[in-house]
Amino acid sequence: MLIGRFVGSRAACLAGATTHCYETILDVQLCETIPDVTVRQEKSPFIQACRREPVPYTPVWYMRQAGRSLPEYRKVREGVSMLDSCTRPDLITEITLQPLRRYDVDAAILFSDIVVPLRAVGIDVDIKAGIGPVVATPVRTAADLGRLRALQPDDVPYVTEAVQMLVTELDHRPLIGFAGGPFTLASYLVEGGPSKNHDKTKALMYGHPELWHALLGRLADITISFLQIQVAAGAAAVQLFDSWVGAVGPDDYRHAILPHTSRIFSALGSAGVPRIHFGVGTGELLGLMGEAGADVVGIDWRIPLDEAVRRVEPGKALQGNLDPAVLLAPWEVVQERARDVLVRGRTAEGHVFNLGHGVLPETDPGILARLTDLVHAESIRSDD
Ligand code: CP3
Repeated sequence: MLIGRFVGSRAACLAGATTHCYETILDVQLCETIPDVTVRQEKSPFIQACRREPVPYTPVWYMRQAGRSLPEYRKVREGVSMLDSCTRPDLITEITLQPLRRYDVDAAILFSDIVVPLRAVGIDVDIKAGIGPVVATPVRTAADLGRLRALQPDDVPYVTEAVQMLVTELDHRPLIGFAGGPFTLASYLVEGGPSKNHDKTKALMYGHPELWHALLGRLADITISFLQIQVAAGAAAVQLFDSWVGAVGPDDYRHAILPHTSRIFSALGSAGVPRIHFGVGTGELLGLMGEAGADVVGIDWRIPLDEAVRRVEPGKALQGNLDPAVLLAPWEVVQERARDVLVRGRTAEGHVFNLGHGVLPETDPGILARLTDLVHAESIRSDD
């Protein structure tokens, strides 16, 4: 029986629903969420840590936990291209669940890619093995912007379907939805592929501010829709991966990027789910990245978490930050470094244990399983 219809907040949804509840976002009814599942997820250590509430232990998940470090992933991907696999709800669901069968992680992350919404609006982008996203015709002029139309739920029905299936399967474990941040998406579009220094992207940012802001505005619109679609289907948190934004300095970040990122986070505010903001090499940007409006700031391995606490404004939780390369060292080293991250993480108002960037493909899954158990065992709260 359907008894309720709510607009916006998940909290309102929780308070009001007894049987089913609808969330409407983008003025389109996208899905129903199952209140029992949602209530259990609200009490999960991952969501509690994001909200800076007391936790029974430090929650943990790993960026890129679903993917190339797992033999079962390589098996199901045989003969299916990366981006095609991101359009098949059965594969998305299976690959998202694979790491949870091996590791006792506190959250799942949707199997997808940051370029999925770009491809869904018609950009000719492919992911080439061992290279990354490659864009056939780069976006560099005002005329090119016409190719970046708005994203509608109908463009990514496979995402809605997969998220809905996953939320039921996952039960108490929250699903993290995600999207690429404005600078990182712009870089792939402008460069036409992966880039070390993002020269063409920065030349556009410095030399053609109007075009730059128009480009980032369109990317922010696409990102807002992509995240809202995932939340409407049941994602319990979202992460914005602005992985390469560390390529710019603080002044440029403030003027050229932050307004767009702020718009993304504020558009997600009424959804009521924790918002995580992550980039690599962002030590000098951490304060601004917090200001952009996330609830949780992701930290790479270059800044100790207790130092990150000083750089990020109060009222934010932190996520991170074991160097993924540490996992290639002997277990004793992993153990020692993980304990150090946990101790420093206790100085934050909330801490979600993670790596400082994604799992490296050569990582032994057995080490990640042991690390997950270590994080839980060593962080059990007896004092709260
Ligand atoms: O975290 C997860 O487990 C969920 C899945 C996920 C993928 N991409 C799947 C993927 C997530 C969260 C992403 C985000 C993503 N994609 C980012 C931000 C995170 C980061 O690493 O900084 C970026 C920059 C991309 C763009 C991208 N896609 C790159 C650089 C690559 C790697 C290219 C390579 O092969 O070295 C990809 C491909 C990709 N995305 C793979 C996976 C599992 C590997 C390709 C494959 O399996 O064939």
